[in-house]
Amino acid sequence: MTREALVRRVDSFAESVRKDFPILGRRVREKPLVYLDSAASSQRPEAVIEAMDTYYRTYHSNIHRGAHTLGEEATAAYDGARAKVARFIGSPSVDQVVFTKNVTEALNLVAYAWGRGNLRQGDRILVSMMEHHANIVPWFIAAETTGAVVEWVPITDDGLLDLEALEVMLPGARVLACTAVSNVLGTVNPVGEICRMARHEGVLSVIDAAQFVPHMPTDVSSLGADFVGFTGHKMLGPTGVGALWGRPELLESMPPFLGGGEMIENVDLAGFTTARVPTKFEAWTMPIAEVVGLGAAVDYWDEIGMQRVREHDVAVDPQLRSGLVSFELGDVHPHDVSTILDQEGVAIRAGHHCAKPLHARYGVTASARASFQIYNTTAEIDCLIHALDVALELFGL
Ligand SMILES: Cc1ncc(COP(=O)(O)O)c(C=O)c1O
Repeated sequence: MTREALVRRVDSFAESVRKDFPILGRRVREKPLVYLDSAASSQRPEAVIEAMDTYYRTYHSNIHRGAHTLGEEATAAYDGARAKVARFIGSPSVDQVVFTKNVTEALNLVAYAWGRGNLRQGDRILVSMMEHHANIVPWFIAAETTGAVVEWVPITDDGLLDLEALEVMLPGARVLACTAVSNVLGTVNPVGEICRMARHEGVLSVIDAAQFVPHMPTDVSSLGADFVGFTGHKMLGPTGVGALWGRPELLESMPPFLGGGEMIENVDLAGFTTARVPTKFEAWTMPIAEVVGLGAAVDYWDEIGMQRVREHDVAVDPQLRSGLVSFELGDVHPHDVSTILDQEGVAIRAGHHCAKPLHARYGVTASARASFQIYNTTAEIDCLIHALDVALELFGL
């Protein structure tokens, strides 16, 4: 395909979905908003906003309790959303999807519940150098409480996971914490291969798919991971909801994460027994509206088709990367870069992106990051480049 034809294809796709996102019509500092911060949090289509609005306006009630119409409708919507999410990620069973507040909570759930029950003094936890803090800190906490140790899986100078080093490190390790897509480098890791290597050595694989699920078709069965976490607000859904997918035998064998009202089968003076998975891990009144909104987001993705989404990404970026680019502008601090860009209506992220070990690996403390979603056009990338030119001139570079 010629470059012109590719640009036309990317733009006609983006234009066809932009009308679904009300926020994209607004202006920032008297300029049209150019939203290039979807890796931090994507925007939501009308369908998601409407689904949550309808829930609150017409059938809000607590779930799995009230024997009344509203309770039944809310329960059906909540359970229905779980079924949608399960199908969307290729889960063999609905019960393998546990709703959480976000991916951070999903990963903490594993580190806490699985870690407490299984890690012992001296056990090795492998953490990739390109992890978000959400897949680092829970493992440090697990290590502190069990006597296990965290070891870092290195990455190469060009931003790939060092698979040769991983192969050497895996034997005898207990856990591998690895991201599917780096939120700083955009690297798409060969998760299937990584999980196969881990499984071969009997190492538990815990995959952070926060940046993966919103960009390409997800099939947890073929990824071969033990646990996969992701988060609603990066996949066109609401904040306050995420999910953990896990192998059934692991979810069954793990102790609960939090105790409370919903997660029990019975409580008496002697103690408690737990409810079945996944309710065992959903201890409280859950974020019902947000789960309903996540279900609507999944419906929206289904309409578009995830394969088409991946094509949109690949048109903008090479195959090995997904939907984002991090950069430095001379020695100008990324916060200053993003402030100048904001004057031009361009929203990017600046900072360490909750990946300090990764930044340290490359000898920098912070970077600027532009990230893309289905609604971004090539004209918006031109706006970014123009805004960067303005910044360069301003800083005399
Ligand atoms: C790769 C990755 N993991 C985890 C997170 C944390 O997401 P949340 O705050 O929704 O738990 C993010 C968000 O920035 C991310 O990009």
